[in-house]
Amino acid sequence: MPRKNVTEQLSAKDEGLARAAEILADGGLVAVPTETVYGLAARADSAEAVARIYDAKGRPSFNPLIVHVKSIEQAEALAYFDESARGLAARYWPGPLTLVLPMRERAGLAAAVSAGLPTIALRHPGHPVMSALLDRLDFPLAAPSANRSEGVSPTKPEHVMASLGVSCPAVILGGPTQAGLESTIVALRKEGEWSLLRPGPITKETLEQTLGPESPKSAVKIEAPGQLARHYSPGKPVRLEATEVAPDEFWIGFGPLDGDCNLSESGDLNLAAAQLYESLHRAAASSKPRIAVAPIPESGVGRAINDRLRRAATQ
Ligand code: TXA
Ligand code: MG
Repeated sequence: MPRKNVTEQLSAKDEGLARAAEILADGGLVAVPTETVYGLAARADSAEAVARIYDAKGRPSFNPLIVHVKSIEQAEALAYFDESARGLAARYWPGPLTLVLPMRERAGLAAAVSAGLPTIALRHPGHPVMSALLDRLDFPLAAPSANRSEGVSPTKPEHVMASLGVSCPAVILGGPTQAGLESTIVALRKEGEWSLLRPGPITKETLEQTLGPESPKSAVKIEAPGQLARHYSPGKPVRLEATEVAPDEFWIGFGPLDGDCNLSESGDLNLAAAQLYESLHRAAASSKPRIAVAPIPESGVGRAINDRLRRAATQ
């Protein structure tokens, strides 16, 4: 497919979605809005299409992708669901929850999607534009966050274009995302064992209400490739737990600690999650050579915020 020198900007209405569906059916890439972050989507059943994702992001091939489905039925054709998996899907799908499950032998997905693992990560997203797009397709979509590998995830189409440029041939203009942090990833094992592979908008406390306590780490062999220590990097040094600011720092505030921007003046963690990446993008674009971030409580979605901040701070 010849590469154009501009990113096609598609409306989130019928006409734009029809064009997006056409590009995807042909094996091309489209950046799509979800309720968490923008994803860089390709048809998950085509090796060529999936290879384009890794290429555009500069993503290492050992880092598997999440497959986005339009229904539980489509998901069940790809992976084995036990009772816990069905319970989670019934309760949280469509929504910001990814399930890592044993993959079916005849799933028909490109091998690169799962990076050679016997498991597959599945998510039924709830964003109305993404749902409308998936409904037009007869194949599932592999989609990582639509940014260069290791960079800050995009919560707006502008972030996608700034990070990927023409490596992203088309983007759907779906406005800012709501949750602002990538989906929670849960791996389900036999006999009710489970582990949280990535904290996210659906908190561990909430999951424990459905699944009981998380299995001890030692009891479960966790394969979470791609959970790289260095990730979400704004390209500048990041100092955490900052209760004051130096003159050369862009200060991301929280609650009463009001900086150059504030994740949430009222100390609302959900709002802070929604603002986090936008604030990191602003800090990256500012003239200040360093970034400082006010302390964020380690509870509820605060855990997911701190997980991303610790990775952003890893040089
Ligand atoms: O909210 C989200 O999940 C967004 C939107 C676009 O859906 N997607 C996203 O994808 O965050 P990505 O590629 O940035 O992160 C996917 C992570 C990988 O880093 C990997 O750790 C994990 O999912 N993953 C995928 N398949 C896996 C598997 N079979 N076993 C364990 N972890 C897996
Ligand atoms: Mg990512």
